Amino acid sequence: MGGADDGRETCLRDGTPLSALFDADERTVSLRLLNDRDVHQLELDRVFARTWLFIGHESEIPEPGDFVARHMGEDPVILTRGQDGTPHVMLNVCTHRGMTVCRSDTGNTATFKCPYHGWVFGTDGRMLGAPFERDFYRGGLDKSSLGLRKARTETHAGLVFATWDHNGPSLADHLGDLAWYLELMLARTDAGLEIVGSPQRFIVDSNWKLAGEQWSGDSYHTMTTHKSIEDLGFFKFTSLLQGIHVSSNGNGLIGIGEIQAAVNDTDTTVATDDATANLSANLELLRKMPPGGMTAELVDQLPNHLTPQQIQTLVTTPLMIAGIFPNMLVWTDRGFDSDGNIAAIQRIHVAQPKGPGSFEFCSWVLTERGAPEELKTSIRRASTFAGGISGWIEQDDADMWQAIQHNARGHQARHGHLRYNTLSQPSRPPGWQGPGTTYSPYMRDENQWNWWLRYHHTLTQPVTPPVQGDK
Ligand code: FES
Ligand SMILES: [Fe+2]
Repeated sequence: MGGADDGRETCLRDGTPLSALFDADERTVSLRLLNDRDVHQLELDRVFARTWLFIGHESEIPEPGDFVARHMGEDPVILTRGQDGTPHVMLNVCTHRGMTVCRSDTGNTATFKCPYHGWVFGTDGRMLGAPFERDFYRGGLDKSSLGLRKARTETHAGLVFATWDHNGPSLADHLGDLAWYLELMLARTDAGLEIVGSPQRFIVDSNWKLAGEQWSGDSYHTMTTHKSIEDLGFFKFTSLLQGIHVSSNGNGLIGIGEIQAAVNDTDTTVATDDATANLSANLELLRKMPPGGMTAELVDQLPNHLTPQQIQTLVTTPLMIAGIFPNMLVWTDRGFDSDGNIAAIQRIHVAQPKGPGSFEFCSWVLTERGAPEELKTSIRRASTFAGGISGWIEQDDADMWQAIQHNARGHQARHGHLRYNTLSQPSRPPGWQGPGTTYSPYMRDENQWNWWLRYHHTLTQPVTPPVQGDK
């Protein structure tokens, strides 16, 4: 690879300029992007070392000293709750000789002791001491320079994000207008959401980008890839035809309408233009058909946390799937448990790269803390039936992603392209209350193409965030 930081165009090992892998006029990207070691290394340096990445949910570390082990790109990190209650994200690599400091997935601790030579670090990453410190390190250890490398950490709607870029854009800049939608999906009640158990994790033999770009808004595939669920009589895909795409900064949202249609036989009517005037009518509708995962009692808490505009959006578009660049999905939907009963799906997915041809699919289930136990159980079952390792949706999608990845290795097929040719112009449905660039009708390729534009921009920015060197 050459020309990374000197103003010349970045080229791959065989001299192919990176720009040759994108065609903005044709709206295509090369299949080579899926299976190239140089591209993958660039992604680690410029995407995963630069952008904000989802690390975990605040409910996974409720108490001081709680921790979970995670990854940022291919770097292992620890998310902790410090003794003062602050979340910290730090590299899980010992500053002595590179050993993994924390080898548990989750737990509570006052300190982390490296299993190799016994250096000890605090839950905020500070280096605290070493065995035989006074005898062995006669000149003394400069502990202030030997702490675990810290990432910059911020939270939004209970989601903890981190980045290695200490001087880059804020998390609010990164999320853009999608932040507004994440609030109405994830921050609606007094007690908030909590993660159920530990995340499921499984390896998909494919490139992480196939998940990332699909999650930004590929509604088009659902009627074919997931058709078996309709054939089995669980679902009618025609109900998905009314929807909207929202795009902001490469992040994409799919919103699908349902509640108004479902309660049309009631005498409650909602105007679409003045959310403040409609607030009590909207709340009445939501009590009749609460958003997935909520009860009528919890609906009463919505005005404590959401604006009238956000509440009206829950009425018009209760099913939402948000793809956050580069590799995260937030999914609040209506699904089924294995007995066919309708229930809410509430999941977060992350596609964690493991080389160009493999990613770890990490998936969390969320429930409202204040929901009754039977509702929590039905959400867990429906979310697992749809979205876990054995879920019908993930099995379908993983099958597609793995086959595409296999093809991207072929002598002939790797010269092919991913195409994003279905066009639509930004358009705003009457009465739409939310921010962002909106596309309605949806199911076109704008969201995914905007994801690729963000990817291209990030990948071709030459300056990589400086790595703090050990002193
Ligand atoms: S590598 Fe951690 S103490 Fe030596
Ligand atoms: Fe899918």
